[in-house]
Amino acid sequence: MALLPASTCRRLRFIFQTLIKYLHGFVNETDLTTDEWMAAIQFLTRVGQTCTPLRQEMILLSDVLGVSALVDSLNNPVEGDATENTVLGPFYTDDTVHIANGEGIASEGKGDYMYVEGQVLTTEGGPIPGAIIDTWESDSDGFYDTQYSNRSHPDCRGRLRSADDGSFGFRAIVPVAYPIPGDGPVGELLLTMNRHNMRPSHLHMMVEAPGYHKLVTAFYPEGCKFIQSDSVFGVKKSLVVKLEQIDDDDEARKRGFPVGASFKLMRLKIVMLTNEQFKYYRAKNAKSKETV
Ligand code: BEZ
Ligand code: FE
Repeated sequence: MALLPASTCRRLRFIFQTLIKYLHGFVNETDLTTDEWMAAIQFLTRVGQTCTPLRQEMILLSDVLGVSALVDSLNNPVEGDATENTVLGPFYTDDTVHIANGEGIASEGKGDYMYVEGQVLTTEGGPIPGAIIDTWESDSDGFYDTQYSNRSHPDCRGRLRSADDGSFGFRAIVPVAYPIPGDGPVGELLLTMNRHNMRPSHLHMMVEAPGYHKLVTAFYPEGCKFIQSDSVFGVKKSLVVKLEQIDDDDEARKRGFPVGASFKLMRLKIVMLTNEQFKYYRAKNAKSKETV
């Protein structure tokens, strides 16, 4: 096995010493019985055994315990009006449809019409042209295209670039709330804890531009009944958006919807940190001195 650099070894020792300290604290505080510890070991074993190349129950466990969201928040500090990061989730795929500004990501019948328009900006308010915007969402039945065994092509997902003034726009569908997988050990855990397994409606977005820190985020239309109780703790106040109802033939036609169609409008302002800004804020916010 290759030797690890000394700083990595130091960091690993620090991580394990801290983990053991809190684990012992937990066992002491709960006065854990031998049977309970054995049940915990069996539970974790089942979580591992439920994983397949297409299903990652271990990540799902981290998600419902709020650890994924916490790690994400620690590693992506909130700064000024920069758009906040949130959990990526398991449904991102590089296999997507490249679209031009103004085109659509969802095939007909996948859900109610929505148009997403916005601008990618610097923290000073300048435009970021040529940013690559990846977006994905479930259909109105609450399933991502990758959850269908007969998937033949990407649907409800697309990749486009911001224009010279940083603007972008695309047709999509109104997001709906959906359940995360509940038929495995993580589902049982949620039931035991009297928690539901729903995610509030959302549209995922990943934005990349040269010189800027990659943004992984999602936008949550206000009013969803699960917004205060997201099973994976991904909602942040700044990511909750208002959808406008548009009932205007000209506006529908302009955006490529059928004549007479009504649609929802999601307006977004995406503010990115430069790599230098990100490095500076991440170091400033670090809680531990024992970093690599
Ligand atoms: C999602 O939003 O796609 C997601 C995130 C975490 C766990 C499951 C799903
Ligand atoms: Fe999602």
